[in-house]
Amino acid sequence: MNPLTLRYLIDFAYLVAIVLFILALRWLSSPATARRGVLAGEIGAALAVLATLANPEIVAYKWILVALLVGAIIGIPLGLVPMTAVPQRTALSHAFGALSAALIGIAEYYVRAPHITKFGMTEISMEVIIGGLSFTGSLIAAGKLQELLPQRPITYRGQNVVSLSVLGAAVILALILIFHPGDTFLFPWMVAVSLFFGVLLVTPIGGADMPTVISLLNSYVGLSAALLGFVLNNKVLIVAGALDGSSGFILSVIMCRAMNRSFTNVMFGAFGQVQASAVTAAESRTVRSATAEDAATLLGAANTVIIAPGYGMAVAQAQHKVRELFDVLTKRGVDVKFAIHPVAGRMPGHMNVLLAEADIPYDKLLDMDAANPEFPQADVALVIGANDVTNPAARTEPGSPIYGMPILDVDKARTVMVIKRSLSPGFAGIDNPLYYLDKTLMLFGDAKTFVGDIVRELTGGHTA
Ligand code: TAP
Repeated sequence: MNPLTLRYLIDFAYLVAIVLFILALRWLSSPATARRGVLAGEIGAALAVLATLANPEIVAYKWILVALLVGAIIGIPLGLVPMTAVPQRTALSHAFGALSAALIGIAEYYVRAPHITKFGMTEISMEVIIGGLSFTGSLIAAGKLQELLPQRPITYRGQNVVSLSVLGAAVILALILIFHPGDTFLFPWMVAVSLFFGVLLVTPIGGADMPTVISLLNSYVGLSAALLGFVLNNKVLIVAGALDGSSGFILSVIMCRAMNRSFTNVMFGAFGQVQASAVTAAESRTVRSATAEDAATLLGAANTVIIAPGYGMAVAQAQHKVRELFDVLTKRGVDVKFAIHPVAGRMPGHMNVLLAEADIPYDKLLDMDAANPEFPQADVALVIGANDVTNPAARTEPGSPIYGMPILDVDKARTVMVIKRSLSPGFAGIDNPLYYLDKTLMLFGDAKTFVGDIVRELTGGHTA
């Protein structure tokens, strides 16, 4: 093929890929169109890879094929992890993305040095520093979420000064290299210091904040990829990196708002240490517990029920049983809705994904702002494996670590029923005063089993 025609075709494929990436983000913003969004993103990525492989500058395909094979061997099992492991899997994907961006930047430096412009060296240095810190930071985040590393924040006096000094050292090395790109012996030091800074950045942050950190690291990886696009003069990389960087940043902001936390508090607040007093407090107070039969009687007699799902529903994989409960109650004329807190579960959209998997109609899903005015009129608020996102201490106890976090006002319903296995705290590690209210009935048990038992009671032993 004429080289010019090929060049045009490649650019056209990149343009289509960019449009598909933008559409993917647009469609991913609603559960109703999210599947289409995933497909658009996949087709866009495949197109961008194929167009790049058609580049006439490629001299040999052997090592590219080996890399593709190794990537597929690692990637396929990673794609098959259970839903509850998706946050750490995502952190690993970011680590790989950051590693590849950093490695390409490193290779570009050695190919071009010492005849490299100040501007080119600035791009490479920034790209390698951000890629390097995102690589180790994402690995630490994945290790914490997988509980290979301690989930609690690891802190010591003067930590922020030490961390910022290490980042400062990386920046100074970059500045020297910008003016003396031929000082090749400094380059590995800059890489090593950036990698070390990633470890220092994430180690002091508690496991509960990891999803926000992962989203922030995602935006760093996007930024690194966009910078790499400038280094390589590759437009699709610039646009895809910018989309990734900005969407990851917006997501972090949304998560911080939903937890009423600032970025500084997430990054330096050492949030998420389980308070020993939570367990003691739970042990010394009394709660009212009830059976599946009691719960079925109350639910069957209700006009309006709002279900508030949380992380425990995901752990128990109770979504299909919840669907059965929804069906059987709806058939009896009960108005059943779902209240979705933006940070319920362990990743953005966690509850939406699970409920969509169980084919719960989207119009029955209310976000927090729509659900909260409805709780005072609800006969029953049924909390299924949620804890922190229903904790009234966020409204009433100024000293609480979650004070100010917007919550689902389940305590305003006429009766509250909570399905969980024990009085153990949730991810924030704090006690929940909801369980000790006179109107609250604790339904102790695994969410899937308990909801199944309620359905059986309601149907007299028949399936819904
Ligand atoms: P959590 O507060 O973590 O509580 C989950 C509850 O589920 C636990 O108290 C646990 O109690 C119960 N549970 C666990 N396994 C269960 C099972 N098999 N059956 C029944 N119950 C079970 O969850 P949440 O209310 O969804 O809140 C999410 C937390 O994660 C918040 O603190 C939020 O800030 C944090 N977070 C989330 C995100 C995103 S993006 N979702 C991001 C950052 C932080 P038992 O052990 O007694 O059963």
